[in-house]
Order: sequence, then structure tokens, then C-alpha cells
Amino acid sequence: MEANKILEVINYSYYYDQICAVRELSFHVNEGEVVTLIGSNGAGKTTTLRSISGLIRGGGRGEIKYMGRNIENYPPHKISGMGIAQCLEGRQVFPHLSVRENLVMGAFTRTDKKGIADDFDYVYALFPRLLERQDQMAGTLSGGEQQMLAVGRALMQRPKILMMDEPSLGLAPIVINEIFQTIKKLRMTA
Ligand SMILES: Nc1ncnc2c1ncn2[C@@H]1O[C@H](COP(=O)(O)OP(=O)(O)OP(=O)(O)O)[C@@H](O)[C@H]1O
Ligand SMILES: [Mg+2]
Repeated sequence: MEANKILEVINYSYYYDQICAVRELSFHVNEGEVVTLIGSNGAGKTTTLRSISGLIRGGGRGEIKYMGRNIENYPPHKISGMGIAQCLEGRQVFPHLSVRENLVMGAFTRTDKKGIADDFDYVYALFPRLLERQDQMAGTLSGGEQQMLAVGRALMQRPKILMMDEPSLGLAPIVINEIFQTIKKLRMTA
């Protein structure tokens, strides 16, 4: 079966003023595939993900293609609307909102009530811990639980691509294992 390329980064560089953070990077992602960017501190991984999601603009050269369309100049809301979700580095949840409210925020741009309800069930099935704690303030969750919530919130967008920046950062090995098992499951159910 021929692989279906959904994301393509071609000869991409990013400059913060004079500083080159990413140099002539090319890679692609096929549908159903888990792709990992590996590099030392400062290698440009976060810059690459933020370029794809549109959070940084202006210093980019080269192409970023999503389902055949060039998106390297699109603003972030347009890109997320097209089906690319990102969990930022440092798992940013809304600390003063409950778990459930954080998930609602993830579905902010959607209007399909039935689909949203289904996705709540889906996220809670994936992370039963979040269901148990749905009324708890997100800021009081453990690090691992906050990571689960960050992933859950991104999934509430029902994205075609989920990008995670250092999903295991600062977590205990057993929680890391849980997160990676979930990533595998996600790929299979996508
Ligand atoms: N806003 C900015 N202004 C200037 N330089 C920046 C800015 N953001 C990042 N950089 C620089 O760009 C380079 C790449 O940074 P980036 O955060 O993309 O790396 P990374 O691979 O995610 O690293 P880490 O593993 O430490 O998270 C670094 O040298 C960094 O100092
Ligand atoms: Mg980084």
C-alpha cells in the first residue's frame, strides 16, 4: 500500500534574527505513523514544532506542506482548524480551570455537539484518571496527570496530527511508560 504523506517539511530553516535555529531540515510524516525528532538541547526541535503550528513566523525559509498545501505562512488558528494540534513544551494547562473545563477549551472551535460528547468519552476512556478528577483544578494535578490533560485537551480538537513537545519531560519512568503506551494506542485508533 502506498503511504499517504500528510505532513512534509522541505529544506526548512528558521532564523531568530541572525541566529540560525534550524538549518535545512527535511522530513515527512505518513498517515498512521509516529515520528520522533531527536536532538540535543538547542538543536531546534521546539522551533520546528512551533513553525509547523504557526506560533512563530517571519524567520522561516523553505516549505511546510500539510495535505499537499503550503502552510508555512498560515496563522496558528487556521492551522489548528485544519487539524494540527500541539501540546507545548512544559504541559501548559489552565491551572485555575477544572479538568473538565480544560477539555472543553480544547473543543472551543467546534460546533458538533455529538462529536464533542463522543470525544469526552474517548479521552476519559484513554485516561480514566482524568475522569476521576474531572472537577479538580488542573493546577493541583500531578505532573503526569497534567501531561495527560494536555494530551486530552489537544485530542478534543479531534486533530489529524498531534504534535507533542517533550511529552516525557520531568515525569517518573512509570508515567512516561503510560504516556508512550497511550501514544501507541492513539496511532492505532486514528
Ligand atoms: N525567541 C528566541 N530568540 C532567539 N533565539 C532563540 C529563541 N528561541 C529559541 N532560540 C534559540 O534557537 C535554538 C533552538 O532552540 P529550540 O528551543 O528550538 O531547541 P530544542 O531542540 O527545542 O532544545 P531543547 O531540547 O533544550 O528543548 C537555541 O539555540 C535557542 O537558544
Ligand atoms: Mg525544546
